[in-house]
Amino acid sequence: MDHEQHFPLTDYQAPTEAELQQRANSHLALMQQRHTIRSFSDRPVPREIIQQLIQIAASAPSGANHQPWHFVAISDPRIKKRIREEAELQEAGFYNGRAGDEWLDALKPLGTNAQKPYLETAPWLIVIFSQKRGGLQNNDTDTNYYVHESVGIATGFLIQACHQVGLVSLTHTPKPMSFLSKICDRDNDNDRPYMLLVVGYPAEDATVPAHALKKKPFEQICTVLE
Ligand SMILES: Cc1cc2nc3c(=O)[nH]c(=O)nc-3n(C[C@H](O)[C@H](O)[C@H](O)COP(=O)(O)O)c2cc1C
Repeated sequence: MDHEQHFPLTDYQAPTEAELQQRANSHLALMQQRHTIRSFSDRPVPREIIQQLIQIAASAPSGANHQPWHFVAISDPRIKKRIREEAELQEAGFYNGRAGDEWLDALKPLGTNAQKPYLETAPWLIVIFSQKRGGLQNNDTDTNYYVHESVGIATGFLIQACHQVGLVSLTHTPKPMSFLSKICDRDNDNDRPYMLLVVGYPAEDATVPAHALKKKPFEQICTVLE
């Protein structure tokens, strides 16, 4: 039966142990150079590159392979301006009390505030939507499974891909994010804005908060049972 067809695994090549070690070393070193950036250059990034990054994101695993995501890639300055205005409005409410003291204290070392100039400066904003229902075909309305997990993994792929090709990103989660549905013309029952990824090159004077450089030691984040 067609839906049970399998193909031989032809696109996998096992590394030698030395290659494995070398790749692990270089990938770890590369990923330790990834930083969330909040000051962007206006240097353009070609649309084709953004398309490829999104294809990389969409190669992520997903529950039942339903791929419960939709990406809206925005470079139009008028739309970026609208997003900045709305995000700053929401964020003003957030920073002026809605967040609560504990959350605001947690954000203090990052130095973030309600001003989001990078939403206009950066060449691309990618709004990631999660979808409750869907399926492989465009008009399918099957239930999607593990939507949050799947979209989170795809977003992780996207962040990693940006870094690997030499771009920087900012994971931005204005609260609430519902204004993005209207602006992106996806104001329906099925699509939910999941995250806003700002993508581009860093400004020349971009900085990294010391707080963000403190990563937990290995012993704290992992237990090995062998
Ligand atoms: C789910 C999520 C939401 C985030 N939201 C924001 C945000 O709204 N604004 C912001 O400036 N940074 C945001 N960040 C970035 C974090 O502050 C950042 O990842 C953290 O400080 C660690 O820094 P690093 O990414 O450079 O390792 C978010 C990160 C994640 C994973």
